[in-house]
Amino acid sequence: MKKKCFIVMTFWTIFVVVLGVYWYLQHLHHDSHILLPSILARGSSSISEPAATVFFNSMKKYCNLPTPDSVFGFEGDFEESYDLLGVITIFRHGDRGPLTTLDDKRKINCSSYITERYKRLEKFVRTYKSETLAAKLLPRSDFCIPGVLSKQGASQLIELGNGYKESYAKHCNFSDSNIIKHLSANTTSYSRTIQSAYSFLFGLVGSMFLNINLQKSGDVTFCSKYCRCEAANRFEKLHKFELNDLFKSDVSLAHFSPQVRRILKNSEKSKKSILPTTLKDILLHYACHDEIPGCSADESLCVNSTTIIPLDYYLQREAEASSSGLNLKKAGILRAYGLLNTIDQQILSWINMSKKRKAKTFLYFPYFNVLSGHDLTLMYILASLGIYDGYLPQYASRLTFEVLSKRSQYYLRVLWNGFDVSQNICPSSQTYCNARFLATFIRFEMKRYFQTDDFMRACNL
Ligand SMILES: *[C@@H]1O[C@H](CO)[C@@H](O)[C@H](O)[C@H]1NC(C)=O
Ligand SMILES: *[C@@H]1O[C@H](CO)[C@@H](O)[C@H](O)[C@H]1NC(C)=O
Ligand SMILES: *[C@@H]1O[C@H](CO)[C@@H](O)[C@H](O)[C@H]1NC(C)=O
Ligand SMILES: *[C@@H]1O[C@H](CO)[C@@H](O)[C@H](O)[C@H]1NC(C)=O
Ligand SMILES: *[C@@H]1O[C@H](CO)[C@@H](O)[C@H](O)[C@H]1NC(C)=O
Repeated sequence: MKKKCFIVMTFWTIFVVVLGVYWYLQHLHHDSHILLPSILARGSSSISEPAATVFFNSMKKYCNLPTPDSVFGFEGDFEESYDLLGVITIFRHGDRGPLTTLDDKRKINCSSYITERYKRLEKFVRTYKSETLAAKLLPRSDFCIPGVLSKQGASQLIELGNGYKESYAKHCNFSDSNIIKHLSANTTSYSRTIQSAYSFLFGLVGSMFLNINLQKSGDVTFCSKYCRCEAANRFEKLHKFELNDLFKSDVSLAHFSPQVRRILKNSEKSKKSILPTTLKDILLHYACHDEIPGCSADESLCVNSTTIIPLDYYLQREAEASSSGLNLKKAGILRAYGLLNTIDQQILSWINMSKKRKAKTFLYFPYFNVLSGHDLTLMYILASLGIYDGYLPQYASRLTFEVLSKRSQYYLRVLWNGFDVSQNICPSSQTYCNARFLATFIRFEMKRYFQTDDFMRACNL
């Protein structure tokens, strides 16, 4: 009797254990749990969560999703003893359809995060303006279209423009129609930057935005007279080679690229090597619009947590290499040369005006220049100024130059995404940079890296 019971118990125990193990393995499979090399698992507390959560947790931070709350930032936030002469802001366009896609035929709704202010813009344009003008000003579709601004992207810029209005409210009344004379806007000639500029201006001055003349620049770097530069092409290529070598030689990264390349089978990018940044751009298409990426056509390969979780680590490696890369720095100096000169000339002309009006009030200031550009526009400038952290700027990122005066001295305050970085750029000065800092800086850096401050000569070296 006892013996029989023992056998039954043993069988029962084994059965329960087997069932448990089976359930565990099933569960493991279902939730796409993974075992990562310990180096990659650092800080990944979300490892036991379902794949979708893992995916969104690791990617959404790159989206800069628009919110109706005030955009965070210290723009306009300087001591009251300073006067504001003018502000120059360069921003990246908003959320867009991907430039490279997975072999995935789904249409993705890119209008999940649109704000009330966007709806107001749409209503205003559709009610009062022609269909052709509406097509020029606004994203047309709820769906993502490759390279085209989404409604979500327009929302980001409207909120940014509105944030500016609040930041500079102390210094300027943006509801007064005279402000138009003090506002200038330049953009590159892509529809996503043009629409981003209009969206920003709508957020800033409301329906008066149509009275502002948008100046188009043919080059993403706003280089004016200083565009063609053989040396810049070469340094940029060298930087890409460096990054490729970094990922080729790293054993722990070895499985990464081939797997993604197979997923990208049908895209033109699949022939080139794939850097983590490329993968990030592809995946943001999904993450920023609440979708999970699909699988390769034959379903044998999926972008799952095996590729996603390590991506942060790869991006960090790439960022470290980019932020300290000498070749990128050199390319940045040459690419940003024209724009930095233009900005410096603008600063100089404000200073000249202020000197002429010294005896009078500051009635005619401040002025605002906005430039609607790309991640590369910002990357070159940041790299040239030595403040690039190696991560390509998010949608609607902004770099702001504020020109200030105090007791006939002139200053430059620089902010990156709302944070004052003046001290990082000109550490030897107090609080803010000298107003003409950029001019001195460019000359100094040209001599240091190219042994000449002549642009043409540096480019032909
Ligand atoms: C896209 O999503 C938004 C927000 O969820 C919704 O209002 C809209 O109708 C959707 N558009 C399409 C074409 O499904
Ligand atoms: C700003 O200008 C508008 C239009 O001229 C005016 O109605 C409003 O009172 C002004 N606001 C301030 C704070 O001066
Ligand atoms: C913006 O456009 C105006 C008019 O074409 C031009 O004078 C100015 O230099 C441009 N600014 C930049 C930064 O390209
Ligand atoms: C992720 O996909 C790869 C192949 O695409 C597969 O080998 C791996 O087991 C998958 N991982 C999970 C957790 O599903
Ligand atoms: C500013 O004034 C200086 C000296 O008077 C002059 O040389 C320069 O051309 C002026 N620059 C601009 C941009 O107005």
